[in-house]
Parts: sequence; C-alpha cells; structure tokens
Amino acid sequence: MAQKVTKAIFPVAGLGTRFLPATKSVPKEIMTLVDRPLIQYAIDEARAAGIKEFIFVTSRGKGALEDYFDHAPQLEAELERKGKTDLLDVLNETNMESGAVAYVRQHMAKGLGHAVWCARRLVGNEPVAVLLPDDVIAAEKPCLQQMVEAYEETGGNMVAAMEVPEAKTSSYGVLDVKEDHGNLVSVNGMVEKPKAGTAPSNLAVIGRYILTPKVLDNLNAMEEGAGGEIQLTDAIAKEIAASDDVYGFRFRGQRFDCGSKAGFLQATVAFGLQRPDLKDELEQYLVELAAVRQAAQ
Ligand code: UTP
Repeated sequence: MAQKVTKAIFPVAGLGTRFLPATKSVPKEIMTLVDRPLIQYAIDEARAAGIKEFIFVTSRGKGALEDYFDHAPQLEAELERKGKTDLLDVLNETNMESGAVAYVRQHMAKGLGHAVWCARRLVGNEPVAVLLPDDVIAAEKPCLQQMVEAYEETGGNMVAAMEVPEAKTSSYGVLDVKEDHGNLVSVNGMVEKPKAGTAPSNLAVIGRYILTPKVLDNLNAMEEGAGGEIQLTDAIAKEIAASDDVYGFRFRGQRFDCGSKAGFLQATVAFGLQRPDLKDELEQYLVELAAVRQAAQ
C-alpha cells in the first residue's frame, strides 16, 4: 500500500512580477479572491486531502504571509467583546495548529524545482504533496483529495493534468502520453515549456503534485532547464526515465491561473458568483454590463 501523504510544500518564494506594482510590497499569495487570500484556498484543499504538516518556501518580503497564519489575540478579543461570533468563526478557520507550519527560505528565486529542493530536509523520506497557490481549483471534491485517492491505488509520483489549447502548451510542463486511461495517464516523458510546434501532447501539468523523495534527490543535481531556472518538471522527467513511476491525473474541476491577471479576474467573478451574500448583486451587474457593452457596439 502506498505510504500516506501527510506533508505538503507550498512554494511561495516567486517574485510575482506579473502583478507589479502590487507585489512590490504585497505577496501574491496574500491577494484575495473575494475575501480569502489565495494561500487560504490552497491550505483548505491540503487539509481536505489529509495534510497535517504545511511547509512554506518563502523569501524576502513575504513576512505578511507568516503573520497571516498567526493567531490574532487582540482582534479575537475585540470580536468576542462585540459578540461578533460569525467573524470569530471565520478567523478561527484560518488558525494553524502550533508546530504544524514550517518555513524555509529560498534565498534566490532560482525556479520552482529549487524552491521544492529547499524543503527537502523537512520532508525526509516520505511522499510529499506540492501545491502552487496561484493555481486555484474550483471542484466539488478538492483536487488534491482526488489525487490522494488515486495515489492510494498507484503509489509513485502523480501530477495534475489538464488539456490546454495547442497554442498555449509553451507556457506549461507538457506530458508525453504513453497510455491514456481517462483519469489516469501513464507517461513516456515530460517537457517544460516546449517550443511552439514541438509539444508532445496538449496535456499540461498544473500546480498540484505528489512526489516521492527520489524526485527531491534528482533536484540535487541543480541542473538549469527552461528559462535558466531549476525546473521541477526536469526532476520528474528523470524519475520517469529511471522508474516509470509517474502518472498524470486528469482532475475534475475548473482551474484558474491566478498567477496571471486575466485568470485572477475570472476567478474573482467565478468565486463571487458562488457566494450567497454577493451572487445576486454581482450577477445583476454583469448582466447590465453585458447589455451596455452590446448596445455600444
Ligand atoms: P511563477 O512561475 O508563477 O513565478 O511561479 P512567480 O515569480 O510567482 O510569478 P511571475 O511569473 O514573476 O509573475 C510558480 C510558483 O512557484 C513559486 C512561486 O511562488 C509560485 O507559487 N516559485 C517560483 C518559487 O517559490 N521560487 C522560484 O524561484 C520560482
């Protein structure tokens, strides 16, 4: 039986340049969809999948993220005094257990593979999940939970995958598919950001992984890949060659690329429309906006 996944790495050390000037002082992962920071969605998803230890790979300027996970005694006392129990509940949901959170610094943004490698000693000899908080996935059953359930059958390494338009494959890690079994896909290889026209398929990897310690070992080589960065994709591709123990997993749900402005705006609307307290007003605004725009054409 596959070893249980109880640890997760959240790489949050990137520079977030696509959101400048905001990210000059606000970590991208603290930016909010409606009223919850991106990181909260990732934490909730990890918890639902049975994760107990949360490892953040941070960098200079990410102090607000560390504060976010602290209890806020003064604020809690004030809400208590005013009898605002609903808001207290909201706050309590964000509190993390003492000792469940660890931070490790990535001193230079050398790439996602390097960020994951920085957490290796905290992971030890266990499988680990990796969640990129800028990929937000709306799903009936949270994406990582779907993956953990599939992993319990397969073991090995697993990457979340989705079909993308051919023209967009050069922005992703792309799977070279061996056998396609629907939800599960076995693979011959994996390429990071293939040049236009060279992608082995249109099945792209998005920011959810379950990795064995061997992939973290492969990162020891510190080989630079696409864009001069140390790529997680390359370390996983090495594992495909060595052990043939890597699966693509087609998750059920809608993924929003909140690392891009367009994706972030789409997610804001989609999550706003799911909120009972906002839905009607937002929907009415969107209908009116569409009518005005159509009339102007
Ligand atoms: P991105 O490729 O989106 O990079 O990283 P970025 O720096 O966050 O954003 P842009 O492109 O400059 O706007 C994907 C994930 O990998 C993490 C990021 O924090 C994000 O969660 N990452 C990336 C690191 O932790 N370290 C790195 O060196 C690079």
